[in-house]
Amino acid sequence: MSEVAGRMAVQAGAAHLEKSKGGMGVLLGGVPGVPAAHVVIIGAGVVGTHALQMAVGMGARVTVLDKSVDRLRQLDLVFGNRINTVYSNAQSVEDAVLDADLVIGGVLIPGAAAPKLVTRSMISRMKNGAVVVDVAIDQGGCFETSHATTHTEPTFVVDGVVHYCVANMPGAVARTSTFALNNATIGHAVALADKGWKQALKDNPHLKNGLNVAHGHVTYEAVALALGYPYVSADSLLG
Ligand SMILES: NC(=O)c1ccc[n+]([C@@H]2O[C@H](COP(=O)([O-])OP(=O)(O)OC[C@H]3O[C@@H](n4cnc5c(N)ncnc54)[C@H](O)[C@@H]3O)[C@@H](O)[C@H]2O)c1
Repeated sequence: MSEVAGRMAVQAGAAHLEKSKGGMGVLLGGVPGVPAAHVVIIGAGVVGTHALQMAVGMGARVTVLDKSVDRLRQLDLVFGNRINTVYSNAQSVEDAVLDADLVIGGVLIPGAAAPKLVTRSMISRMKNGAVVVDVAIDQGGCFETSHATTHTEPTFVVDGVVHYCVANMPGAVARTSTFALNNATIGHAVALADKGWKQALKDNPHLKNGLNVAHGHVTYEAVALALGYPYVSADSLLG
């Protein structure tokens, strides 16, 4: 779903940069003689990488920020000088965001709420008609001014900046999303059906890591911590 949302983020952002959608009226790729838009992507994970691919493909000027230098190194090897990679900290985020036409937020701290990397003060100093797409909104969002929206009314404006904060972006392209989700999950479904849940989880550490609740116990430590429940390890319930 992150692949879908990352790719969609650029599509949604480009559409909302159009004047009739509240944006500043800028074409992502520019035209000969007119500069391309500056797309800033915060978080170079699955969402960020797929957004990056689309933004580069549409001819935007792209900056990507992450806390993982290894991740930035990989992207630098693949995209070379078609992108700028920047180590993420409060100052570099601020510098990039203030120069951006479109900002895409795709950060994740597993099991925790997304960090509010873009503050209200930064939003108020962004270009008028700029667009922010907060893909991380399903984890609380990485823009201080974000709140979750739906496809019926996907955007709202704060200080002249269009916010697109749809919590279930892949739902808009349900056909593609369903096939993609099927591809990723069918192996697990077959294992669960063939072996029963306990054996399937014992045989596959990734499936086991996905177990959140069993026999009324929370088996995912970060979720237990966040919700104030006692944590019980999955292993202790698998017998
Ligand atoms: N809205 C939607 O429809 C939708 C769909 C899919 C995913 N998501 C959300 O998108 C977010 C990203 O998902 P993902 O699969 O790309 O996760 P991921 O783990 O692949 O990538 C997250 C990246 O964020 C980086 N990061 C963490 N802290 C950072 C910081 N302070 N500055 C910069 N980068 C930082 C990590 O190093 C990592 O590279 C998640 O919150 C996920 O739930 C939302």
